[in-house]
Amino acid sequence: MTNIKKKIDRLRQELLKYEHSYHILDQSIVSDAEYDYLLNQLYFLELKNKEFISSDSPTQKIGSNLTDKYQKIRHFFPMLSLENTFDYNGYLNFEKRVKKSFYKDEKLTFCCELKIDGIAISIIYEEGFLVRATTRGDGYIGENITSNVKMIKSIPMKLKGFNIPKRLEIRGEVFMLKSDFLKLNKKSKIDKTKIFSNPRNAAAGSLRHINANITAERKLMFSSYGCYFFEDFKEKEYISTHYERLMQCLKWGLPVNKEIIVCSRHIEVLNFYRKFENKRHSLDYDIDGIVIKVNSIDLQKKLGSNAKSPRWAIAFKFFSSERITKLYDVKFQVGRTGVITPVAYFQPVSISGVTIKKASLYNQNEIKKLNLYIGDFIVICRSGDVIPKILNVVKNIRCSNAKKVVYPSFCPVCNTKLLENKAEKIIRCHAGLICNSQKKRFLHHFFSKKSLNATGLGPKIIDELIDKKLVQNPIDFFYLKYFDLVNLNKIGPKKSMNIISSIHRCRKTSFRRFIYALGIPNVGEVFAEKIANYFMKLEKLINSNIVELNSIPGIGTIIANNIFNYFSTDSNYNMVCRLMKEIEIFWNYSGVCLKNSKKTYFFGKRVVLTGVFASFSSRKELKDFLINLGAKVLNNISKNTDILIYGKKFGSKFSQAKRLNIKIINEREFNGLIKD
Ligand code: IVH
Repeated sequence: MTNIKKKIDRLRQELLKYEHSYHILDQSIVSDAEYDYLLNQLYFLELKNKEFISSDSPTQKIGSNLTDKYQKIRHFFPMLSLENTFDYNGYLNFEKRVKKSFYKDEKLTFCCELKIDGIAISIIYEEGFLVRATTRGDGYIGENITSNVKMIKSIPMKLKGFNIPKRLEIRGEVFMLKSDFLKLNKKSKIDKTKIFSNPRNAAAGSLRHINANITAERKLMFSSYGCYFFEDFKEKEYISTHYERLMQCLKWGLPVNKEIIVCSRHIEVLNFYRKFENKRHSLDYDIDGIVIKVNSIDLQKKLGSNAKSPRWAIAFKFFSSERITKLYDVKFQVGRTGVITPVAYFQPVSISGVTIKKASLYNQNEIKKLNLYIGDFIVICRSGDVIPKILNVVKNIRCSNAKKVVYPSFCPVCNTKLLENKAEKIIRCHAGLICNSQKKRFLHHFFSKKSLNATGLGPKIIDELIDKKLVQNPIDFFYLKYFDLVNLNKIGPKKSMNIISSIHRCRKTSFRRFIYALGIPNVGEVFAEKIANYFMKLEKLINSNIVELNSIPGIGTIIANNIFNYFSTDSNYNMVCRLMKEIEIFWNYSGVCLKNSKKTYFFGKRVVLTGVFASFSSRKELKDFLINLGAKVLNNISKNTDILIYGKKFGSKFSQAKRLNIKIINEREFNGLIKD
């Protein structure tokens, strides 16, 4: 067997396995993007090697396989599939092909509908009564699901109105509302029954349930998108377009989705597509594109079909939020606290308009779970529509020279042996500030906005200062001279001066900010505030033990240990002492939060600020300070405001407060009050 044939067989087996799982077991074991990708691979291999094409290949089949659960029924008309396009050119080509078969003096119109992501069914009405309903099956033979379909509330058992044909076939989509799907899964979690991965699977599982009462319970919806008439019905007397057919369905009491337009210009089609591409996430049902159909029934008949799909319709699909791309490399980043984070770099892909070229792999478990090799084809998505994430690897097209991703045993930056913390599921480099990566990240953090806030001193400048060996630790920054800075890349005299003065300005800070700036593992802003409020004095914090730390509400064993270990490490202790004594870092109001002390003047008061305050480095700092005193700081004056505090260059809030007779104090009076 040739290599090509082997590859084709492997792809076919894989695709058939996925199809079985999807259609028969109602489970998606691969993403749509991955399935489409593999199918495309197979399609192109078969195209180049036509001798290997066989009728049972997934590229040749229309629909699904069939189970033996249901009685088999041959369709009166084959249930075809739709040709797909993902871009505007695909639609233009479709239109060009249509135009070849159409008389120039006629006006060519299209009927555009939503492509609902559900399950196609066929329903037969005789003398107006529902007599039979079937799944698509393999396109020619479907399964008899009449008793289940009769349980769907919106499908009429009897048609209403006039001109009801002796026999009529309705085609449409059964689906489940997203809201009902969520409710169903919530209930299934409690009842410990089957959880469905998406509304389509839930609809499929409910529709083909052996117990039709379950179908009734599961609130399925239906939307008709086409009908077929038999000889007895003189359609031409009443109907000449697809749109009119749908309107007739509505008159007979069949549900039809209301988002339908008839258009003749490209721009109208494109606008319809764009409108729903933007709106799809706010609809309560899943759609995966729009369907563009030739409106004239005569022209539809003239165009006919090929083996798989009609020539008179095309699905203009939305890009899935998943893409396949090639993994180039995995780099191991060393974070501020020494945690090693693997980052995957891949061939850039665009997902919902954003180009993505890397994604975090979190930890070693993630790499193990994915079984990742460099050179692999990977499925990327934007999790929560934002953060790039690798969903899985397309394993069966792994190249023979792909290289397994292995976690390093030594720090990629300083070569220190890495240690695993099993409880936290992380691997860490414990070299601290000796490791250049940790040093850089720690210093970025120390001077960042939420820490000491040295404006103008960004990561790039800090990195350059470290690389030029001008600084090693936070203390060195306070000894920097104008000439050290002015010689750096792209820093002029003015910026150098500004940076020097902003470094000196940040000597004045708050206890909470200082604790946060130290970068103790797991101590973020919230914990830093808790700790500051509890200890009030730095000496007390430094001399605390694990039991005391652990007794602070919200501080668990891990954080208590981290804080204790931090101050027990000589280098940290010495650095903190030097910062306090030599550099004279200080905080004004003992840096404490008095939130729960009802004694403060501002406790429970609604305060509004206006103007610039000289005693605070920013408005946010004053705001935080007031919140710590128990005040509620609001943006606008209202009759409920208790106090307006104003600084220099105050605005219109001043006169508003005056008009409403609200207490007004200036910055000096404010400082006096807080001293008291
Ligand atoms: S027309 C001859 N219209 O998409 C083709 N199909 O991939 C008749 N679908 O099997 C299909 N919404 O299950 C048509 N407005 C719509 C549709 C629609 C969803 C599904 C249908 C079909 C599949 C084609």
